[in-house]
Amino acid sequence: MTRILGIETSCDETAVAVVDDGRRIHCNLVSSQVAQHAPFGGIVPEVASRHHLELLQPLVEQALASIDGDAAGIDAVAVTHGPGLVGALLVGLAYAKGLALAWNKPLIAVNHLEGHLYAPWMDAETDVFPHVALLVSGGHTSIYLVRAWGDYQLLGQTRDDAIGEAYDKVAKYLGLGYPGGPIIDRLAAQAQRPAFELPRPMLSADHFDFSYSGLKTAVITALEQANVGGVSPEAAGVARAFQDAAVDVAVGKTLRAAREFGCKQVTITGGVAANSRLRALMRDEAASAGIEVRIPPFALCTDNAAMIAGVAYQQFNAGVTASLDVSAFARLPPESWRVP
Ligand code: KG4
Ligand code: ZN
Repeated sequence: MTRILGIETSCDETAVAVVDDGRRIHCNLVSSQVAQHAPFGGIVPEVASRHHLELLQPLVEQALASIDGDAAGIDAVAVTHGPGLVGALLVGLAYAKGLALAWNKPLIAVNHLEGHLYAPWMDAETDVFPHVALLVSGGHTSIYLVRAWGDYQLLGQTRDDAIGEAYDKVAKYLGLGYPGGPIIDRLAAQAQRPAFELPRPMLSADHFDFSYSGLKTAVITALEQANVGGVSPEAAGVARAFQDAAVDVAVGKTLRAAREFGCKQVTITGGVAANSRLRALMRDEAASAGIEVRIPPFALCTDNAAMIAGVAYQQFNAGVTASLDVSAFARLPPESWRVP
């Protein structure tokens, strides 16, 4: 049995988890800073770093309590080293290095995106390769071909806004608060039908890239012209129009990638995987194409440390550990994953 303590501080969640053999989650602690950032309508990097610094120690203590304080039973310390906010990442990285040094255990540096790709598999009996993964969050909208853990091909990604970012901006325009994704999701569900049909950007293009900036602008312009704000039937119809278009493109492209690469398995992961319309439409359309869908439980969709400790187990088995001078990276493209 291999027990890994994972730490994740790439954005605004401070997270610590203990996972055995990459699957069995002992504890998955997440302290969200949403309340601290909400007054600013978005994430303030300096505020995030300061909160990580305050929250890490108590969370690690709580995680250790879940395994009866048995630090000696931990085989490795895993930490996200990118991509993300560099200041935020550095807080987690420095803390993890300290633990690895104090406990004399290997340090494993994990790519945050690889954690998201792994999240849908934490409760699976076996992994299915190759599969196509749709990674949708506040910072990312990408399609990957996953051939094995550590062997990923980026098939396409957004050329401008991430899908979650578009949700957040539409909600902000409506004055509905942050994060906007769940709010727009609920609002859209109140409408019987979309207020109008919006274009499906790049849906039929022969590549797997996305563009969500135009869609966001079209929605905000429509809201402006109709003088719509807050929660109203009119706003619900517009939210529905936006959500239908945004989700159609994500589902259409993912399933096309699956067909093109001969995959019978897809996953949805990242914060936007919590979206009700995305989950339902992907399940329906995949079922009619004979394709299986895996979506993580909500706690593993959004940023968490269980997925980091999970994927670290795969690295540990492959003998990939990091040296204590490993750095944090704002950007960490697929070809530089597992930089020691
Ligand atoms: O993965 P995550 O926790 O953090 C990032 O790495 O970005 O994703 C957060 C994003 C936010 O943009 C939030 O609005 C969006 O996920 N989100 C949703 C839903 N729940 C969260 N978007 C659409 N529908 C939802 N139900
Ligand atoms: Zn994330």
